[in-house]
Amino acid sequence: MAEPLLFEKSVPGRPGYQLPTLDVPLEPLPTDDLRKDLELPELSELDVVRHFTRLSQLNFSIDTHFYPLGSCTMKYNPKINDELAGLPGFADLHPFQPEHQIQGALELLVLLQKILAEITGMDAVSLQPAAGAHGELTGLIMIRAYFRDRGENRHIVLVPDSAHGTNPATAAMLGFKVVQIPSNARGGVDLEALDAALSPDVAALMLTNPNTLGLFDENTLEIAKRVHAKGGLLYYDGANLNAILGIARPGDFGFDVVHLNLHKTFSIPHGGGGPGAGPIGVKAFLEPYLPLPVITEKKQEASSIHYALDENRPKSIGRVKAYYGNFLHLVRGLAYTLAQGPGGLRKIAEISVLNANYLMQALKKYYDLPYDRICKHEFILSAKRQKAHNVRALDIAKRLLDYGIHPPTVYFPLIVAEALMIEPTETESKETLDRFIEVMIKIAEEAEKNPELVQGAPYSTPVSRVDDVLAARKPNVCWCS
Ligand SMILES: Cc1ncc(COP(=O)(O)O)c(C=O)c1O
Repeated sequence: MAEPLLFEKSVPGRPGYQLPTLDVPLEPLPTDDLRKDLELPELSELDVVRHFTRLSQLNFSIDTHFYPLGSCTMKYNPKINDELAGLPGFADLHPFQPEHQIQGALELLVLLQKILAEITGMDAVSLQPAAGAHGELTGLIMIRAYFRDRGENRHIVLVPDSAHGTNPATAAMLGFKVVQIPSNARGGVDLEALDAALSPDVAALMLTNPNTLGLFDENTLEIAKRVHAKGGLLYYDGANLNAILGIARPGDFGFDVVHLNLHKTFSIPHGGGGPGAGPIGVKAFLEPYLPLPVITEKKQEASSIHYALDENRPKSIGRVKAYYGNFLHLVRGLAYTLAQGPGGLRKIAEISVLNANYLMQALKKYYDLPYDRICKHEFILSAKRQKAHNVRALDIAKRLLDYGIHPPTVYFPLIVAEALMIEPTETESKETLDRFIEVMIKIAEEAEKNPELVQGAPYSTPVSRVDDVLAARKPNVCWCS
């Protein structure tokens, strides 16, 4: 590592603080309250600042590099969002403040709920879940509660084979049996297989649309009709909403529950697994099951509105998150949405789709394109051709780092061998896209003429290849002296 740990840089007796001289009698603290063996590194403030600044510069980030990480929508996060979230009226709020002191914050949340309901075509929204997977969990718990109420023992959740791993994982965590539906030759849900899997035991189908192949399922309405005809519900994984924003609404396709990833489509920072924001939207019949608290609006005299936190909802599934969700992220999401306006949201979808198709058309001569049809906001290449020279998708991903580009998602979705999942987003310029094309073509040539070069990449990063299997199986995340 180019940067040692703070513990390694520590010098005993060199603290980063100065305390005034004691001017009261010395009184030892009760030993029961003392934490023992608190081995903190001892450094000056300047050394600490330099350490963290250097570490931040060792990373690839959306603010420093092109970041076409498929399925993650690594768009630029406008700094104005952070500025607004940092306003003292928002940043200094305490979640335990009484209702009458937080009317403005509640009004803001209600406004965001209404906008997200309009964008998705749903009747009610909860902003509580902290991520997409958390939205999935919340939505499926609501579906389970709904069927229990009706006395129906539906214990199966259907998931296409192109789905993100969180879909089957969430369903399995809740005790549902997961049944996988294969994709057809065009990358959509195979209708015959769907029919064969549908039964009175099916609680829901979870669908991502456009799916993780970047393809819009042309049979969406038919799928919805068939699932509903058997009494099942439709869950929309909104991770890819960027592609249809302002153009089409999952509520209009027949979906009953949707989650959105504000940290993708609505331009709030991704937080390394959290904190993000994964609001859910539901159709009216599921509204009673929404998590607590639900914000209600009561008209008062002189046309003012009082916002209240309603905890008295007997059918609610209860709390899924402390307080009201990740509030400052919700401020960012609202700022972004209002700044775009309805026409701007539609433009986001159009440009993200245009950018993806531009890259796809330019690269399909050099890499295998398993589904050669117009894509939405992302597309999948396969490094099959390069594999013939012993260069794998992983090698290509690593080589991109040497050219100052963050790799695309690799080996996902699982149904494409040697997958490279590329999502440029709408915030990249034509020059950046052209450079990416140039670099990808260069790497394809290197793979053919000098495979060892690609296999050994990266050469320019502080850490080259790590043993990711060892890192996952035996994570060593603590510093031991
Ligand atoms: C299609 C899809 N569904 C669900 C998720 C889970 O979302 P989150 O990472 O916010 O939990 C992701 C994340 O990348 C995704 O791409």
